Amino acid sequence: MNRLSIEGGTRLDGQIRISGAKNATLPILAAALLADSPLTVGNVPHLHDVTTTVTLLRRMGVEVTVGERMQLEIDPGTLKECIAPYDLVRTMRASILVLGPLLAHFGEADVSLPGGCAIGSRPVDLHLQGLRAMGADIVVDNGYIQARCGRLRGAQILMSPVSVTGTENLMMAATLAEGETTIENAAREPEVVDLAKCLNQMGAKIEGAGSDLIRITGVKRLGGTHYDVLPDRIETGTYLVAGALTGGHVRLKQTRADMVQSIIEKLQEAGAEITSDQDWIELDMKGRRPLAVSVHTAPYPEFPTDMQAQFTALNAIAKGAGVVTETVFENRFMHVQELARMGADLQLEGNTVFTRGVAGLKGAPVMATDLRASASLVLAGLVAEGETLVDRIYHIDRGYECIEEKLSQLGAHIRRIPA
Ligand code: EPZ
Repeated sequence: MNRLSIEGGTRLDGQIRISGAKNATLPILAAALLADSPLTVGNVPHLHDVTTTVTLLRRMGVEVTVGERMQLEIDPGTLKECIAPYDLVRTMRASILVLGPLLAHFGEADVSLPGGCAIGSRPVDLHLQGLRAMGADIVVDNGYIQARCGRLRGAQILMSPVSVTGTENLMMAATLAEGETTIENAAREPEVVDLAKCLNQMGAKIEGAGSDLIRITGVKRLGGTHYDVLPDRIETGTYLVAGALTGGHVRLKQTRADMVQSIIEKLQEAGAEITSDQDWIELDMKGRRPLAVSVHTAPYPEFPTDMQAQFTALNAIAKGAGVVTETVFENRFMHVQELARMGADLQLEGNTVFTRGVAGLKGAPVMATDLRASASLVLAGLVAEGETLVDRIYHIDRGYECIEEKLSQLGAHIRRIPA
């Protein structure tokens, strides 16, 4: 398997461009299934999860044309079967996002259950409950969700707990349902807002996206459009942390500060000087070692669970004692043991990691287990003495476009070692 080799000790300094958001791209590609004409999507990041989604759409018979700069045109007019098979869904849980659109537009869908993953059991009960409330007949058998319906009916849906893809799936299904649907305790993530903007451009009638109450008035049909996805806020946060924990100075272009306010506040607490404008953010540590911080993950706009592992790496080398509490997923600490092997002083108690910052980490061979845990190991490798070898980096390639090129541009000594 491909590995990343990182020679630690360099203060990052420079600027990079942030890619389009993975977690906006995936639902927007699925939304193409709702339309009667082609949807074109721009600012698409070249990631493994995007490739998997394109493969899934093509497997259904949908024509996907890749243009220059990864612009994708999706034409649902050639769809042949409404099936999302296990061999693809097991590699990417977000495949569940085709369920709502297929049901709403074609009245049928056979989607493999995603199964769990390294960070938790990841059930989809809220997706199924919501679709049943809208009139779908759903049987779960042989590891597949077998769903059938006539035209879906609007319903009042309460999400508990908050679910990002649950909100997105049901919002998409509701766009073509008869009558009005409300989603209470809806996810407020910027990616949900981006999806709603794209759907409204396709002719949907969605109000309230970004708040915890979304109202959708069903329409008869949706048409194609052109939509550019928003910048990736988790990639943005990850490179800000890379600058902070190396005591460096980084400038991130084509991103937005409004989406990462909770991350910026924590980095300022860690001693970073941060400035920003319309489409860039700059972080400067002025060579200082960061101060440890306490973070508590929760649904947007609170501190994102997808940044928890990266801040655990920051706390590992920061001055003082840090506390990181994970409240969204039940097992998102696979990076803790690996960081300990690099010399971090951390104590995992229930859903909280207590750290005592050490002045330096030691490079070591470590193993990636999930997307954001892998990112935290790369970050640790940037400051560790000697070489860090991160194995199983296919996890990283799912969510970070050109990670070694972008880090090298910032001055890191990092290279990919083919298997
Ligand atoms: C989305 O996953 C993101 N993925 C995740 O990003 C992110 O970590 C997560 O939201 C939380 O922000 C995409 O958008 C493709 P949830 P999702 O449904 O929608 C429970 C990354 O690193 N739940 O919001 O699958 C669930 O167990 C990935 O880019 C139910 O109980 O997460 C969890 O505890 C990782 N029943 C909580 O809700 C359901 O039907 C939040 O999960 C659905 C979820």
